[in-house]
Amino acid sequence: MVKSLNEIQKDFPILNQQVNDEQLVYLDNAATAQRPTQVTTALTEFYQTDNANVHRGVHTLAERATADYEAARRKLQKFINAKEPEEVIFTKGTTDGLNLVASTYGQQNVKAGDEIVISITEHHSNLIPWQQLALEKGATLKYIHLTDDGELDLDEAAKLITDKTKIVAVAHASNVMGTINPIKQLAKLAHEHGAIFVGDGAQSVPHIAVDVQDLDVDFYAFSGHKMMGPTGIGILYGKRALLEAMKPYQYGGEMIGFVHQFESTWLNCHTSLKLGRKTSLGQLA
Ligand SMILES: Cc1ncc(COP(=O)(O)O)c(C=O)c1O
Repeated sequence: MVKSLNEIQKDFPILNQQVNDEQLVYLDNAATAQRPTQVTTALTEFYQTDNANVHRGVHTLAERATADYEAARRKLQKFINAKEPEEVIFTKGTTDGLNLVASTYGQQNVKAGDEIVISITEHHSNLIPWQQLALEKGATLKYIHLTDDGELDLDEAAKLITDKTKIVAVAHASNVMGTINPIKQLAKLAHEHGAIFVGDGAQSVPHIAVDVQDLDVDFYAFSGHKMMGPTGIGILYGKRALLEAMKPYQYGGEMIGFVHQFESTWLNCHTSLKLGRKTSLGQLA
C-alpha cells in the first residue's frame, strides 16, 4: 500500500512542531535523517522486552536479542545482495568502516612505493584514513579529478590506476556534487591492476538500490543514521576471503577464541569456533 504524504509525515512526530514561528521543514537528510515512529518504537520495545548482551548468554533474553541481531544481519545481506551474512560487519558508521579497512587491510597490504587512488570530491572520512596510511607507509595518494560537466574523469582514472595501485576508494554518490559515480567501472579497473576497490556508500544506500556482487566492490561502508536508523551503527560489507585474511581491528569481547596469559586465539567468525586463524570477523561483537 502506498502511503500519502500526510500519512508519511505522521510517521515523523519531530516534524510536528514550529521552529522560528514556522512549521518545521527538515531538509538536512544527507547529514542525518529523521527517524520514523516505526524505528523509535522498535528500539524502545527492544529495551523494554528483549534487552540482553548478544552472543554472550544462554538465557531467554540473550537468545532473543541474539536472534534479532542476526536477523538484522541477514536482512542487510539481502538489502545489499551480499553473498553471505558473514560479509556484513556491524560498525559505528561509514567513518568507522573506512578506518577499519585502512587500519587492517591497508596496514597489511600497502608498502612504500605503492599508490592509493581516491577522487578529489571525497568526504574527509574517505580521504584522511588513506592520506594517513600513505604518509605512514611511504605510499603515494593520487586524485581523480572532475571533467568540466562535474563527472569523475574516467580517462584520468584509467591513467592513474596502474600496477602500483593497491587501493582505489571512491564514494558511490558524492556528498559534494550529488553525482552517482561509476564505481562498477572503477572496481573493474582496480581489479585489472590487482588492486581492491573500497566504496563509500554513505549517500548512496539511502537513495539507490545497491548490489555489492553486481558492483563487484571489495569493501563498501554505510551509516544507519543517514537511512532513518539509529545513530552510532553502520555496516561494512567485505568479501569474505579478504575479511578472513585481515588482522583484527579491535581486540577483546566477542572476537576471542581462547585467552591464555601470554597469547590468545580469535574466533574465525561469529557462528563457528575455528581456532588459530587471526581474522577480523571476530570484531562483530
Ligand atoms: C560521502 C560521505 N562519506 C562519509 C560520511 C561520514 O558518515 P558518518 O559520519 O556517518 O560516519 C558522510 C557524512 O556525511 C558522507 O556524506
